[in-house]
Amino acid sequence: MILVTGGAGFIGSNFVMNWLAQSDETTINLDLLTYAGNLQNLSSLSSDQRHIFVHGNIADSTLVNGLLTQHQPRAIINFAAESHVDRSIHGPEDFIQTNIIGTFRLLEAVRAYWNGLNEGAKKGFRFLHVSTDEVYGSLSKTEPAFSETHQYEPNSPYSASKAASDHLVRAYHHTYGLPTLTTNCSNNYGPYHFPEKLIPLMIVNALAGKPLPVYGDGQQIRDWLYVKDHCSAIRRVLADGRVGEVYNVGGCNEKPNIEIVHTICGLLDELRPRSDGSSYREQVTYVTDRPGHDRRYAIDAGKIASELGWKPDETFETGIRKTVQWYLDNQSWVSNVQSGSYRSWVEKNYQGRG
Ligand code: NAD
Ligand code: DAU
Repeated sequence: MILVTGGAGFIGSNFVMNWLAQSDETTINLDLLTYAGNLQNLSSLSSDQRHIFVHGNIADSTLVNGLLTQHQPRAIINFAAESHVDRSIHGPEDFIQTNIIGTFRLLEAVRAYWNGLNEGAKKGFRFLHVSTDEVYGSLSKTEPAFSETHQYEPNSPYSASKAASDHLVRAYHHTYGLPTLTTNCSNNYGPYHFPEKLIPLMIVNALAGKPLPVYGDGQQIRDWLYVKDHCSAIRRVLADGRVGEVYNVGGCNEKPNIEIVHTICGLLDELRPRSDGSSYREQVTYVTDRPGHDRRYAIDAGKIASELGWKPDETFETGIRKTVQWYLDNQSWVSNVQSGSYRSWVEKNYQGRG
């Protein structure tokens, strides 16, 4: 069996569902259920014996030691993290606790467990750490995309905490021989994306008749990847990635934020036209920029393509259409995640941005 951490969040829940759609290998899912974790994402698995949900913290060494001893997983895929840049700017503490201390405690528990395995199991074991392109910092318009050897230059408390976790994973391989793999992926989008992030926030605000808050000049560039393609990349790396290696994952799909927002408006104009007949573009509002806002991310996914034969299945056009349709079809999921704590976050982040 495998142990997934953070499997009730956006990418983790997509990964668990995809995994169990393609394999009968039991999945233990350890998740703290922070504001971003939601068991409703996994409701299709509620009576599936192959999915074992455990509510808890990756930093809880006693709990993790017990899970490893009891279930003897052959691999761990670490998604658990605080993941939102704006939240890390308002309050970095949770990012340090989960992304750095949590990853460290998890690695310690895994190291002890791995040391106790027999030689065959030890050799086959994998610890796959899911990370981000943000650790590499920001690119100018003309610089080449991030390769795996690009210097680490994290600019936000979030990316700095992820960079620290990547370094720990690297050190556990080099120092202790732990069979690790790291993936650094670009911006994901798709079903179950929490509406604090750009794409779901714009869809949800548009439908609610609220402003569509574009930070700064809206010309920041991100490299968008449909979440199922990220999941397939992780499966490829887990299956055949070289131990100790890093694999960059991206969609070869660079777009400025304002273009993303306009695309969403265009799809909504077609699929759910506004009652007054005008475009959702009318709701676009430029607001004060994110402090330290990275200008451009772009991934060179050549290594995973040539070594492991991975490439994305979705184009941005097919993926964004599916995503907008998913939010239209799942409005009860959206209203359930818009709890009191969601409303206070929106107030904190957007009030005073002008
Ligand atoms: P998310 O915020 O939607 O989900 C994170 C999950 O981790 C939640 O279910 C949460 O409850 C859980 N969690 C948080 N702290 C925990 C702890 N201490 N112990 C156990 N569980 C805990 O995040 P996401 O967007 O699904 O991202 C998943 C991973 O992928 C993160 O490591 C993130 O850095 C990385 N990543 C995300 C993107 C993206 O575009 N979203 C891109 C590249 C990499
Ligand atoms: O690159 C991978 C990263 O992508 C992941 O590691 C992070 O976990 C994930 O949150 C994401 O980070 P970003 O900061 O790029 O994503 P976000 O959706 O928050 O913002 C995308 C872009 O949109 C960014 O340039 C900021 C801008 N933005 C965002 C919000 C929430 C706006 O213009 N307005 C907004 O209201």
